[in-house]
Amino acid sequence: MIIKIGIINVSDRASKGIYEDIPGKAIVETLSEYLVNEWEKVYAVIPDEQDQIEAKMIEMADQEGCCLIVTSGGTGPAVRDVTPEATENVCQKMLPGFGELMRQESLKFVPTAILSRQTAGIRNNTLIINLPGKPKAIRECLDAVFPAVPYCIDLIEGPYLECNTEVIKPFRPKTT
Ligand code: MTE
Repeated sequence: MIIKIGIINVSDRASKGIYEDIPGKAIVETLSEYLVNEWEKVYAVIPDEQDQIEAKMIEMADQEGCCLIVTSGGTGPAVRDVTPEATENVCQKMLPGFGELMRQESLKFVPTAILSRQTAGIRNNTLIINLPGKPKAIRECLDAVFPAVPYCIDLIEGPYLECNTEVIKPFRPKTT
């Protein structure tokens, strides 16, 4: 079965075509470098509307069968930023460690990293991770958290992700 990964760029301006979807492309490039498996992207650019974000996450998880959904944007304190709220609403379990580590890592680059409300969670067999909207921040955050992603997907009974260990080293604790 082909591995599907959902990529959602949450941005009012990108969804209107005012700017190009650079964050979405950055996510695809980064994941293509990390993963040895063949995978298929399921892609969306939507405005900062909580109901639309939730509907897209549910569609990608339940209908498309994505094992992983990565969002970019909408995680700051601005009035229209609602991506973490949407994520919490569609997930049964939250994984606050993802946000904690991404903020810790991002603080090495910018003091405004404390403004990020990024989180992650599980909806059935799907891991959902929020990334910030800035393309440079996407790589910084993914590099920090991705080593734990393949094992997390093992635990939620998703596909076995294999990584290019010269680029990223996944960690799977020995269970025996
Ligand atoms: N993380 C990194 N690595 N680099 C950045 O420039 N910007 C921060 C933060 N995290 C940033 C970062 C800022 S200014 C904000 S408001 C939050 O991410 C949320 O950004 P978003 O609304 O685009 O998701």
